Amino acid sequence: MNLKERLENPVFRLIGTVADSIGQPCFVVGGYVRDLFLGRHSTDMDFVTVGSGIKVAELVAEKLGPKTSLAVYSNFGTAQVKNKNMELEFVGARKESYSHDSRNPVVEDGTLDDDQKRRDFTINAMAISLNSDTFGELVDPFDGLSDIDKRLIRTPLDPDVTFSDDPLRMMRAIRFATQLDFDIFPATFEAIARNSGRISIISRERVFDELMKIIKSPVPSKGFLLLERSGLLKIIFPELQALKGIEVVDGKGHKDNFYHTLQVLDNVASKSDNEWLRWAAVFHDIAKPVTKRYDSKLGWTFHNHNFVGMKMIPGIFKRMKFPMNEKMRYVRKLVELHMRPIALVEDEVTDSAVRRLLFDAGDDIDDLMTLCEADITSKNQEKIRRYLDNFALVRNKLVEIEEKDRIRNFQPPVSGNDIMATFGIPPSHAIGEIKEIIKNSILDGKIPNEREAAWSLMLELARERGLEPKTQA
Ligand code: CTP
Repeated sequence: MNLKERLENPVFRLIGTVADSIGQPCFVVGGYVRDLFLGRHSTDMDFVTVGSGIKVAELVAEKLGPKTSLAVYSNFGTAQVKNKNMELEFVGARKESYSHDSRNPVVEDGTLDDDQKRRDFTINAMAISLNSDTFGELVDPFDGLSDIDKRLIRTPLDPDVTFSDDPLRMMRAIRFATQLDFDIFPATFEAIARNSGRISIISRERVFDELMKIIKSPVPSKGFLLLERSGLLKIIFPELQALKGIEVVDGKGHKDNFYHTLQVLDNVASKSDNEWLRWAAVFHDIAKPVTKRYDSKLGWTFHNHNFVGMKMIPGIFKRMKFPMNEKMRYVRKLVELHMRPIALVEDEVTDSAVRRLLFDAGDDIDDLMTLCEADITSKNQEKIRRYLDNFALVRNKLVEIEEKDRIRNFQPPVSGNDIMATFGIPPSHAIGEIKEIIKNSILDGKIPNEREAAWSLMLELARERGLEPKTQA
């Protein structure tokens, strides 16, 4: 098969000419070739040459001229050329295991075929020649093209060999299956299950990168189901694994919280591309296993699972090398608040409860509502409709109250400094108390969220505490 028409970017001809000039065969290989067939466009390109990859990279960088940078990694035998928004990675064909990160890469020069068979999957092991006499010719020894047609992830060699070269590839298989909606070839999947324990030698940062790609996929549950079935989940994310299963006492079972969580995740993913909102879905019921109780009158309860869950988040994030920044705080807050809108609907949608929800959720209120709507996973369509109708009412009320009272980014209309200056007093307990009462009065709708009303209340509260204004306000 010749693909010269598809190699529109002039950089391919340029690289081919450079490789010709030093008599080295050179190919574009890996993800770029796969994505070419899948109609996905990528600006990252990997090139393999029989001979020195660094040499080709140096000459290519020279030819591309100004605004081109070159980084050489001589102990890996690789080099990277960056130009505008392109990233070109060059490597010499190797015989030994292909691994980005191995600390002591023992590499031996090899042929193109040696290099291709050491790659992870058949769909990632295709190469297209760039030398002028063979420009555009596909070299596909493992029939990656037919696996693309069949939508299959399969290793080129015995999967035990491919996965022991780099156990991260087990996660990559599941990630590609999820991203591309492919199946994993049965023998390949069985090898993942057999070798799953080896994932523990892989750094948590690399595992995190794969999890991020799974969560950003169109139907992320697919990846988590495969992680669970393969035995990887219980190693990398035991808290999520613990949600699986149904316990039965007195003939009464609870729902399987693993499948429920995955349903919530897909529901959120169908509404939002925000990956941290998707993570909040994964984590929302994370404390259900540890809070689960059976009561002969009440049946199964998961009392306070939202608060316990919130407390679990930093520890899990830290261990799994998730970011310990505002993303973590966002997930933690949504886990904490995820029962509030439903409690509101089941109780009564009072203005005061809506104001408090707005105050606590702030700018994340819309995301919280999306999560709560996604959390309704009953099989009973009528029940789902009833809840969603009620949530629509809550959403209307949220807009109405926000327009009127502006609680979302609440700033106290009277500050601690105002109080200290007015009464000429130093920082004290009374100031905090007065501020808290003013805040609650606004949230409860006793006074409007306005400076004048807050000021009168402050004077009244101060008087009750024996304070007199220094100057007339
Ligand atoms: N590769 C491999 N084993 C790995 C990582 C990468 O064999 N553990 C090979 C594959 O041939 C892959 C190529 O290196 O296609 C480039 O790797 P990478 O840039 O990580 O992945 P892509 O396939 O380009 O896909 P994506 O950009 O989606 O990660």
